[in-house]
Amino acid sequence: MHGCTTAAVIFFFFMTAFPACAAVVEHTFVVSHMNMTHLCKETRVMVVNGQLPGPAIEVTEGDSVVVHVVNKSPYNMTIHWHGVKQQLNCWADGVPMITQRPILPNNNFTYRFDVSGQEGTLWWHAHVPLIRATVHGILIIRPGHGAVSYPFPKPHKEIPIIIGEWWSEDIAQVDTTVSYNSASTINGKLGDLYNCSGAMEQGYMMEVEPGEIYLLRVINAALLSEYYLKIAGHKFTVVAADANYVSPYTTDIIAIAPGQTFDALVVADASPGRYYMVALPNQPPKPDFQSPVLPSRGILQYSNVAGGSQSGDVPMSPEMPDNHNNMLSFYFHGNLTNLHHPRHQPVPERIDERIFITLGLGSVCRNGRQSCKRGDNSLESLIVATMNSMSFLLPNVSTALLEARYYNTSNMDWLQELPDVPPRVFNFTDHSLIPAGPKEEKLEPSSRAALARRFRYGAVVEVVFQSTALMQSDSNPMHLHGHNMFVLAQGHGNYDMARDLARYNLVNPPVVNTVLVPRLGWVAVRFVADNPGIWYMHCHYEFHLTMGMVALFIVEDGQTTNTSLPSPPADIQAYGNANNLMPDKYYLQNEER
Ligand code: C2O
Repeated sequence: MHGCTTAAVIFFFFMTAFPACAAVVEHTFVVSHMNMTHLCKETRVMVVNGQLPGPAIEVTEGDSVVVHVVNKSPYNMTIHWHGVKQQLNCWADGVPMITQRPILPNNNFTYRFDVSGQEGTLWWHAHVPLIRATVHGILIIRPGHGAVSYPFPKPHKEIPIIIGEWWSEDIAQVDTTVSYNSASTINGKLGDLYNCSGAMEQGYMMEVEPGEIYLLRVINAALLSEYYLKIAGHKFTVVAADANYVSPYTTDIIAIAPGQTFDALVVADASPGRYYMVALPNQPPKPDFQSPVLPSRGILQYSNVAGGSQSGDVPMSPEMPDNHNNMLSFYFHGNLTNLHHPRHQPVPERIDERIFITLGLGSVCRNGRQSCKRGDNSLESLIVATMNSMSFLLPNVSTALLEARYYNTSNMDWLQELPDVPPRVFNFTDHSLIPAGPKEEKLEPSSRAALARRFRYGAVVEVVFQSTALMQSDSNPMHLHGHNMFVLAQGHGNYDMARDLARYNLVNPPVVNTVLVPRLGWVAVRFVADNPGIWYMHCHYEFHLTMGMVALFIVEDGQTTNTSLPSPPADIQAYGNANNLMPDKYYLQNEER
């Protein structure tokens, strides 16, 4: 309270508004089971403080956050602060066995981190397979202490819109490679497209005053799908992506992939009435496997509508695109540019490392064999998700990697370097590779290892992610912990440097923590490895993640203490162990560790 108080007092005499000082925002998160009934079925769900979505954390840029996690669940737990930069604070990143040992059942752990240099919408979620379906919530960062404010008209109200899924089974018992959610949700509500023996499920209701401006903070917390969001009769003006401002972009549709967040203004300028808000999951067309189409519907309602929510008129519906239309997502993401803002760094011009990473499925032989029968139903092989034909698998370690590395207690020779290029070059986006069949079989063979890549402190890294058609043609929302990425360009088909360098936006590319690599396409990003630690880099589709589409980005310390990872918080070694790390079902994919 030292310098800040003095500065504030002096400031007070010159300004009418008293500038607040950086505060400590403290929460206690009790993780436990709760029974909820939807679709005529009572289901056991894991939640924080009995809420779904979990509690919101609201801070002002520059604040410190303290969260005491009390694990009353039967599973080992960690919470990840998705998108929080955690500068020199990798210890608080919340990835089990990478940055910390997990919090055992009936144990507590306190996360401490500062939120600085970022404003907008981020979120938090369990970083344990599947359980994040219901253990998640919003993290709102408002502009700085002092005079700074939003670079757009001040909204009348701010409204979180958290898109999620409802699973009618205990999620921890589910195998996501074969199971699906039962509904989509907006702020935990299924909406009136679902019913239990004729009784409509409740939907999310957003009340607006005519003429006012609303700031929607949209999060895709779903495990499985990218979503299209529309509100009948209204437009969005997107103003931020992943807690970085973008140039205002007006659109009637938001495309949002798991892990992404968008802030968008909505003006209540339609004729007073009721309007449906629809979140529709999208998916690749056949021959990709088709999952049931399960949108969620909420209602935007004007406060002065006669009869209010009792009013009998049917709300107006937005015209939704076909759920196979992925071009709208491609355009949406392609139309985003960075806003000129004092907080924003220029794109680094120098490139120290270039990495080309193919994303897709593959297979490994069971029982450590070198060769085996592959293909859809082969019992001799196991399907895995890969980067450059390698699938992430952590050996059984008893200390978190970051801790082992800091104290030099393990040589970690078993880390396998993520190569610059894939081992096989082929037509990555050849449609005829999509269904599992003889054609792609020779491209399937993959290996499993603790995939990692080391970067010198300050290195500028350019990564081109290439989605492939191997057995499926999903997009891939790639999330990098501890860093933001400049999104320089995206395209359909195979990346071709000679042609595509010319398409790079080096002037005002959007800056994100989760980049959507389009289906059968590529995206080029650049980031500065300026945050020492071990950072997870992975696909935010749950099944890709649990099947191994992960690599560790290890950033070395710099020359000074200001550029080196400090010692861990005192309590880091006091909890957790590596046994019983995940719900048992997790091992369905990892049975041969
Ligand atoms: Cu939001 Cu490593 O994840």
